[in-house]
Amino acid sequence: MKYSSPFLFLIPLITAFSSAASAQNVAPAPQKTKVAPSEYLVKDYSYLYGMPGFSDALLKMHFQLYQGYVKNTNFLLARFKEMDAAGADQTYDYGALKRRLAWEWDGMRLHELYFENLGGSDMLDKSDPLYGKMISDFGSYDAWKKSFVATGLIRGIGWVILYRDPQTGRLFNTWINEHDVGHLSGGDPLLVMDVFEHAYITQYGLDRAKYINAFFENINWAKVSKRYNAATQ
Ligand SMILES: [Fe+2]
Repeated sequence: MKYSSPFLFLIPLITAFSSAASAQNVAPAPQKTKVAPSEYLVKDYSYLYGMPGFSDALLKMHFQLYQGYVKNTNFLLARFKEMDAAGADQTYDYGALKRRLAWEWDGMRLHELYFENLGGSDMLDKSDPLYGKMISDFGSYDAWKKSFVATGLIRGIGWVILYRDPQTGRLFNTWINEHDVGHLSGGDPLLVMDVFEHAYITQYGLDRAKYINAFFENINWAKVSKRYNAATQ
């Protein structure tokens, strides 16, 4: 290659040096975080802020509690993997941690079901198949609601779940003690209500009935109906 100027031969060298220098100054592209299949992700329910009857402060605290269950579920699953690999599956600690998994996992999943069946404002449509099933199993929607509310007023901390038995289609208003005791095996959870004190006490004090009333004002019946339809497919 011939150059018209005695210094033009330097241009390719300068360009190459400049490119190399630039490359060193450019931050490397961030690597995508790999998520292990067993790792659960926190879901965002911030769209519920502003929901009538639920202060933002109450919801914010509740979201933080939920995030703790996701974190602890992931921690336990990772710990079991480590202990299995280390041959520590016959230890006392292994058994003790195994006993905690359902508590943390259910704490995570029940909060997701709870938040996801909130944020609505419409009543359950009388033409909805779930409405008809409530009448069939309880006599009327009001009788179903009375039973659900009464279950929610049981002394103690836990959850109320409207469960559907997949074998018979029968509906049950079920009390769940804490997170993990009282579930109907294989049942389809249709409507989930948190009655731990943290769900209401900062806003309603001990008046759980008032909180349950606010809960009913905000049920996302479209979501509940969707769960029912999915369960009956
Ligand atoms: Fe909760």
